[in-house]
Amino acid sequence: MKLADYLTKLDSRKPIQLKPIDEDYAKKVWIQINKSEVSDWRVTDKEVNRQMVAYLARSASFKGDLSKGILLIGENGTGKSRMLKALSLCMGYLHNFRFAIHSGLEIEDIYKRGGDRMNSLEMAMAQKMFGFDDIGEEHDSIKVFGTDVNVGIDVISRRYNHQMNVGCLTFGTTNLSLEMQAAKYGARIESRMHEMFNVVYLRGKDLRKTK
Ligand SMILES: Nc1ncnc2c1ncn2[C@@H]1O[C@H](COP(=O)(O)OP(=O)(O)OP(=O)(O)O)[C@@H](O)[C@H]1O
Ligand SMILES: [Mg+2]
Repeated sequence: MKLADYLTKLDSRKPIQLKPIDEDYAKKVWIQINKSEVSDWRVTDKEVNRQMVAYLARSASFKGDLSKGILLIGENGTGKSRMLKALSLCMGYLHNFRFAIHSGLEIEDIYKRGGDRMNSLEMAMAQKMFGFDDIGEEHDSIKVFGTDVNVGIDVISRRYNHQMNVGCLTFGTTNLSLEMQAAKYGARIESRMHEMFNVVYLRGKDLRKTK
């Protein structure tokens, strides 16, 4: 094989390309989708919302790397899971790809039971986008048909390998700081997470208490 052909072949593994979208339009869609999901939705952090819109629009104004996914870090009730859902719905509308979202505990349950739901989850984890809600809420270890598994490590490793092999974007939320993630998962996974995610901090009050 010619070197040029070989390099072209390697090119096909590059991160998924999404078309750029007018930022004002992406903002309108973002606001409307959020309002349709949470009736009393409001912007709790202007900059984070601006960044989500820039990311969806695939704009150079996004302060990060568009070839990586997004990890929302914040305290309980700051709106991370809602924001992840809105990202998925906006991706669906703007880029024709609404990604599946599963939480750590949900994934544990699916791993333990196996069967059709496990097949569906495996298919979802092999897609070009995938959402992992509440990373770190899973147990350190569960028994999956006799074998000890940490589903957090398993899902992140699978997505990392997928990113390296074909290119993909992973989105997530967590209550764990980067230091806590390093302590929970170890240096190998922490290192991979840097390559997978733009880290975005969602600060503010617990919206469950301030309704
Ligand atoms: N921007 C917003 N404006 C108003 N209400 C919101 C907003 N975002 C989320 N909420 C509401 O606040 C509550 C908490 O939101 P959410 O579950 O997304 O928080 P979280 O950060 O994921 O919390 P946890 O860390 O406990 O999982 C929900 O009732 C949600 O509907
Ligand atoms: Mg949540």
